[in-house]
Amino acid sequence: MTHASAPGKIILFGEHAVVYGRPALAVPVTQVHADVEVTDSPRAGIWVHAPEVNLHAELASLPSDHPLASVLHNFFFAFGISPFPSLNIAISSTIPVASGLGSGAAVTVALVRALSAHFDTSMTDEQVNAFAYEIEKLHHGTPSGIDNTVIAYARPVYFIKDRPIETFSAGRPFTLLIADTGIPAPTKESVGDLRKLWQADQTRWEKVFDQVEVISKQAKEKIERGQIDSLGELMNQNHALLQEMTVSSPELDRLVEAARRSGASGAKMSGGGRGGNMIAIVEQEQAAAVAEALKSAGAKRTIATTVA
Ligand code: MEV
Repeated sequence: MTHASAPGKIILFGEHAVVYGRPALAVPVTQVHADVEVTDSPRAGIWVHAPEVNLHAELASLPSDHPLASVLHNFFFAFGISPFPSLNIAISSTIPVASGLGSGAAVTVALVRALSAHFDTSMTDEQVNAFAYEIEKLHHGTPSGIDNTVIAYARPVYFIKDRPIETFSAGRPFTLLIADTGIPAPTKESVGDLRKLWQADQTRWEKVFDQVEVISKQAKEKIERGQIDSLGELMNQNHALLQEMTVSSPELDRLVEAARRSGASGAKMSGGGRGGNMIAIVEQEQAAAVAEALKSAGAKRTIATTVA
């Protein structure tokens, strides 16, 4: 039996603009994770069990473009494993689906690593990442690659599409509260809707993405220098631009407002938007009060995480 695990992720700055070549910052969230166990099976076939998404199926019965089927086919093809072995694959995850925490990418990364361990193939983080990016394209259409990158490397990442990976670390640790609207929202839809707006008026949206770029660059500098006090204002500015992109929602806006009112120095939606999660930056001693305010404003759960 082999086992592998992968963390969730949260985007601090720059989502959506990152699809258009601007930088974004994201960090792993180890409080949630996807776990995969691979065992040889006495029964013929490759049986996939993923109770969180109600999936109990043999590989051949899954559509060929199903992300899990694609991971398995791509893996066996890449390593010349034929005929297909008989396996049981158990997938579990504490990462809510379609919530901006990278559930799809985390399952892929954990599955690839568990298969790699099972078949004794050694894969670098870079190979796992490249593999996961191909699968992200099935989930999202035109992904930037930030989700698979931060999850495959499990490090804070300053990400620019098609550029070598750049990590960052905080000059002074800071606390983030992540709050879930409980509304699942597929990234593919918000990314697709924004693409339609961009196609209709590229000049306007490129300017908006430029403004996000300035924010992401400033945020990286401030995080690295430990100038945490000014990050909240940058989050507020980034949220306003995401609202303009039409990817926020009334539920996200309500949580963002509640966080600001209850003492967070700034807050924004995170990830694809329209639902899913938001983040707030807080002093550690305020975290409990802000978490309480978020719950009163409708958050289904909150996670406190430290960026170190
Ligand atoms: C999704 O976590 C982040 C987006 O920027 C999409 C992407 O980068 O592929 C919305």
